[in-house]
Amino acid sequence: MATYRTLDGLDVAGKRVFLRVDLNVPMKDGRVTDATRIDRAAPTVTELADKGARVIVASHYGRPKGKPNAEMSLSPLVGPLSRATGRPVTFAADCVGPAAQSVVGAMKDGDVALLENLRFHAGEESNDAAFAGQLAALADIYVDDAFSAAHRAHASIEGIARHLPAHAGRLMQAELEALVRALEDPKRPVAAVVGGSKVSTKLDLLGNLVGRVDVLAIGGGMANTFLFAQGVEVGSSLAERDLADTAREISEKAEAKGCEILLAIDGVVADTLAPGVKTTLVDINAVPADKMILDVGPKTVEAIAARLSDCKTLVWNGPLGAFETAPFDDGTNALAKAVADLTDRGELLSVAGGGDTVAALAHAGVLERFSYVSTAGGAFLEWMEGKELPGVAVLRAD
Ligand code: 3PG
Repeated sequence: MATYRTLDGLDVAGKRVFLRVDLNVPMKDGRVTDATRIDRAAPTVTELADKGARVIVASHYGRPKGKPNAEMSLSPLVGPLSRATGRPVTFAADCVGPAAQSVVGAMKDGDVALLENLRFHAGEESNDAAFAGQLAALADIYVDDAFSAAHRAHASIEGIARHLPAHAGRLMQAELEALVRALEDPKRPVAAVVGGSKVSTKLDLLGNLVGRVDVLAIGGGMANTFLFAQGVEVGSSLAERDLADTAREISEKAEAKGCEILLAIDGVVADTLAPGVKTTLVDINAVPADKMILDVGPKTVEAIAARLSDCKTLVWNGPLGAFETAPFDDGTNALAKAVADLTDRGELLSVAGGGDTVAALAHAGVLERFSYVSTAGGAFLEWMEGKELPGVAVLRAD
């Protein structure tokens, strides 16, 4: 099993540390609307500063396509980062060149500075060697705490590690430990719950999971494709009917590998996806031709929860129904609560992440009750797909 260099035993006193974090947080009118990523990055900043490092914090924000863009400046994050870390934060109006050099040059041990958006330079996303060298020249040590950007082979994530000793920050460490426990070295039986609208976006993920987990519960719109492939009439539901053969191949692979696939046995149907529409609960074999399946029914939740109660480990990605529109959040809420109860009782290690998952679990009110919820979207999915992430590979100690 892979091991990673962390902050343990690393002497950072008096050193300039380039700390790559992910401050790509939701903002509206210049204000942060969800500070989770800032709060989760803060412990590494404070640990390094407390140990006497000069902490140079760097991040991307949005997709400015290699050019400065005032709307994507990181300057509005100085206040939130300062509050989260309990320390003053100085801002450098560029991440390389004279502006960055003069701010870094004036830092004292224990100081924290935030550099401007890395993606204002095209060299960041192209992983340009010279740009990576410019970033590295600001520091003595590189610490990566941005698991959620680790699937990007960018200069501040991959290239910079060719110049400086590279270590995982505490958030990166926590993410890696949770993911290793969930998928690389899990206590069995291990289950996965995968939801979301389209099979096409999660083909690699499903293909990898059926070879690794003992139970795979599929929900959301993508489950309709699997049901359709089995000859179930799914009415006017969202389903990728052209992917029926692919769904059958995944099911066959699962059977060959001894992975049990769980699909809905009942569903909540309606004419259309809208708040407050009239809904009907039907057996999955009795979906009317003019109705759409928008959530799993209670029997399905009960069946999945019963199967999970025999499992030791669960990895969850994606909602079971159209959870953003009540009442189609009921199935996801109920299963999330069942998982939280199993986790509370110490019977299940539950790890969740990716895209809508955090929002769905927050909506269900169980975010704090899972063993670990990743803040990563695409990076979490790529890890579940079995890919080696470039930002993780550079931190390997073996
Ligand atoms: C994210 O929000 O998932 C990460 O910050 C990565 O952002 P990106 O998809 O723009 O690379």
